[in-house]
Amino acid sequence: MSQTTRTLVFVKPDGVRRGLVGEIIQRFEKRGIRIVGLKMVHPTRELAEKHYAVHRDKPFFEGVVNFITSGPVVAMVLECPNAIEVTRQMMGATNPINAAPGTIRGDFGLDIEQNIIHGSSDPEAAEYELNLWFKPEELVGQ
Ligand code: PPS
Repeated sequence: MSQTTRTLVFVKPDGVRRGLVGEIIQRFEKRGIRIVGLKMVHPTRELAEKHYAVHRDKPFFEGVVNFITSGPVVAMVLECPNAIEVTRQMMGATNPINAAPGTIRGDFGLDIEQNIIHGSSDPEAAEYELNLWFKPEELVGQ
């Protein structure tokens, strides 16, 4: 039996502006994934820079920080067996051009920057991002 784990996911400002929040949450719920934390946040520059800190030296850093602070996002903590892998599969490839139909990016996106949704990439990133976005008391218990 696979281990139950948690991951940090947020619907990016383009997904919120386009009214995709309900559709995206519904996909996770229908899959059987548990929502243990959920909130709408307009990210500050400080939060965005901390979130994307590992990409600080990449050419897209400034652009992704500007984009993520351009409007509210809907952040959630999702829990299920192999949460990182399962949710990233459902999101599809980072560049929506390469995302398979049936995935969130494959169904709704075409733009590498405005790619609708973020999900933690690995267990270390998930732990860092969970602590960055949510206080323990904002998460529901078992
Ligand atoms: S890398 O270089 O492979 O580590 O980067 P990658 O995992 O593909 O992307 C990290 C996040 O940066 C976003 N990204 C971009 N934003 C804007 N413009 C460009 N060109 C670009 N390339 C990558 C990408 O969507 C990832 O954000 P998240 O929030 O993790 O999806």
